[in-house]
Amino acid sequence: MSWQGLLKEYKDFLPVSETTPGISLLEGKTPLIKLGKLSAEFGVEAYAKIEGANPTGSFKDRGMVMAMAKAIEEGSHTVICASTGNTSASAAAYAARAGLRSIIVIPEGKIAQGKLAQAVMYGAEIYSIKGNFDDALKIVRKLAEQEDITLVNSINPYRIEGQKTAAFEVCDTLGKAPDYLCIPVGNAGNITAYWKGFKEYNEANETGLPKMMGFEASGAAAIVHNRVFENPETIGTAIRIGNPASWTQAVTARDESGGIIDEVTDEEMIEAYRWLASNEGIFAEPASSASVAGLFKSLKNGTISQGSQVVCVLTGNGLKDPQTAIDCSDFKPLVLENDEAFVIETILGRKKD
Ligand code: F0G
Repeated sequence: MSWQGLLKEYKDFLPVSETTPGISLLEGKTPLIKLGKLSAEFGVEAYAKIEGANPTGSFKDRGMVMAMAKAIEEGSHTVICASTGNTSASAAAYAARAGLRSIIVIPEGKIAQGKLAQAVMYGAEIYSIKGNFDDALKIVRKLAEQEDITLVNSINPYRIEGQKTAAFEVCDTLGKAPDYLCIPVGNAGNITAYWKGFKEYNEANETGLPKMMGFEASGAAAIVHNRVFENPETIGTAIRIGNPASWTQAVTARDESGGIIDEVTDEEMIEAYRWLASNEGIFAEPASSASVAGLFKSLKNGTISQGSQVVCVLTGNGLKDPQTAIDCSDFKPLVLENDEAFVIETILGRKKD
C-alpha cells in the first residue's frame, strides 16, 4: 500500500485516537541518502536524512500534522506560532488544508524569502516584529495563554510527538540506530524529539541508541556556553535563537546518550553547505548544514572516529533561501549575444582555461 502520512503509518506510537482527524499532506518517509564522497574521504559510513523532501520543505511538517490534528480534535479554530520561517510555513500550510486560521509572528528581515513566500501563499496572517525569534516566542506564548488560540511552536508537546517519527524512519532504513546522530540545534525541539523517538523505538524494537550530536551556530550558541544570547546572529537564520525553549531537554538528550552539543561558525556552515551541493548533489538550507559542518568538525578533532555510522539531519530544503546561495557563491552572470557561433566559441574557449 502507498504511504499514508505519519498519523496513519506510526499511529501506534502517536497520541492518535478514533476522534483524531486524519489530516495529512503525506509528510514523512523522507530519503536517507549515503554521503558517498564524505564517507570515502573520512572512512566513515555517513548518511543524510533529507527532511527538505517533506511537503513544505522542512522537518516541521512531522510535528505540525500532529499538532494541527490535536488542535482540531480539541475544538480549536486558530493556531499561532513564532518562527524563523519554517514553522510558520508548515503551520500555514496545514491550517489552510484543515480550514483553520493561522497567525504567525516573525523577526523582521531575518526570514528567508522562500519561507515568507510560502506563508503568504498559504494565507497566514503575518506579523513581522522589530525583534528576534525569542521576542516573538514570548509574545505568542502570552497570547495563547490568554486567548482561545493554540500555540504550535515546539513547546506544544504534540509537535515533539510528530517529529520523533524521523528517528523511527532512520531505524527502519538502517535496521538499527546509527552510532551518531548529527543535528542542528535552534530552539532545541528537534533534538528532543529525535531522542524521544530513538528511546521509544529501542524499547519496542531493540534498535539501539545513537550518541546525540547537536550543533548550534557560534553566534547563537546558548547551550554550548550556558548563557542566553541576547542578540543572536548567524547566516543560518533558521537557528538564530538565543534562548532555546527546550534547552533542558536538549541537555538531557546529550547527557543520556553520551553525546555533545557543540558549535559551528558561519564559515564552517557555509563550507558544508557548498560542499554538500557540489560534491553530493544535495541542496540543503544553510542552517541545516550545521549538522554536516558539525560532522566535519567532529571527524577532524577526533570526537567521531573512523568506521562510525553517522546520520546527519538536513532539516530544510536549500530552495527556501535562494539569496544566501547566490550571495555565497562566486557565480557571476555571463550574458552573451544571441549568436550561435559566438556562444559556442565562448563555451569552448572557457573550457580550455
Ligand atoms: N533547521 C531548520 C531548517 C529549522 O528551521 C530549525 C528551526 C532548526 C534547524 C532547528 O530546530 O528549533 O527544533 O532546534 N526552525 C524554527 C522555525 C525555530 O521557526 O522554523 P529546533
